[in-house]
Amino acid sequence: MDARQMKIEAARAALEHVEHGMHLGIGTGSTAEEFVRLLAEKVADGLAVKGVPTSERTARLCVELGVPLFSLDELPELDLTVDGADEIDHELRLIKGGGGALLREKIVAAASTRMVVIADRTKLVDVLGAFPLPIEVNPFGLTATRIAVEKAAARLGLGGDIALRATDGEAFETDGGHHILDASFGRIPDAEALSAALHAIPGVVEHGLFITMAQVAIIAGNGGIEELRRQGNE
Ligand code: A5P
Repeated sequence: MDARQMKIEAARAALEHVEHGMHLGIGTGSTAEEFVRLLAEKVADGLAVKGVPTSERTARLCVELGVPLFSLDELPELDLTVDGADEIDHELRLIKGGGGALLREKIVAAASTRMVVIADRTKLVDVLGAFPLPIEVNPFGLTATRIAVEKAAARLGLGGDIALRATDGEAFETDGGHHILDASFGRIPDAEALSAALHAIPGVVEHGLFITMAQVAIIAGNGGIEELRRQGNE
């Protein structure tokens, strides 16, 4: 199975968690897009769901494929969010935001009773941090915020490059009009402590560590589908 096929299989397994009438958070990224494609087929066959997208990119695909969309203000309490991840550890802590949608993804996931993460096996890690952690920051005082992030990380024994994400030489802008710092810490042994430290910095809007948010991770590999469940849930 190639990587695309694994994403499709994970997305297909996530559909099993979707029930008629659900209010669904719909994630962002290439894996989430496979879920949208399969969901759209079910919708065309009569499945009634109401979706809340986690990005403009996902919204465009849903509109194109006929998945009914609502804003989070119209549907502020969701049954389930299905989304991808950049890294997943065995406690179902995640790094998200490689696609730049982490703020809306986190708001939507937090408004959901359950979150199911879908991924190919390469995303499963023992310790988070090989994937650079996206940190969404306000453009105002960017340099001061970056220095504050470096100092907070250093206090936790973390170092490494902290780079402003750019596309075509321009700072990447999120759907919320913010920028992203990608922090290459290498290893994040204490994700909870880093999360708290980053939240204490005023210029940090949100970060890509999702802790105690996902209840289920559907991991697709050459051996088939594996469903991991977080201890204390379900
Ligand atoms: C978007 O901001 C991200 O959180 C994505 O969900 C994550 O990067 C996974 O993307 P892929 O499925 O494309 O790897």
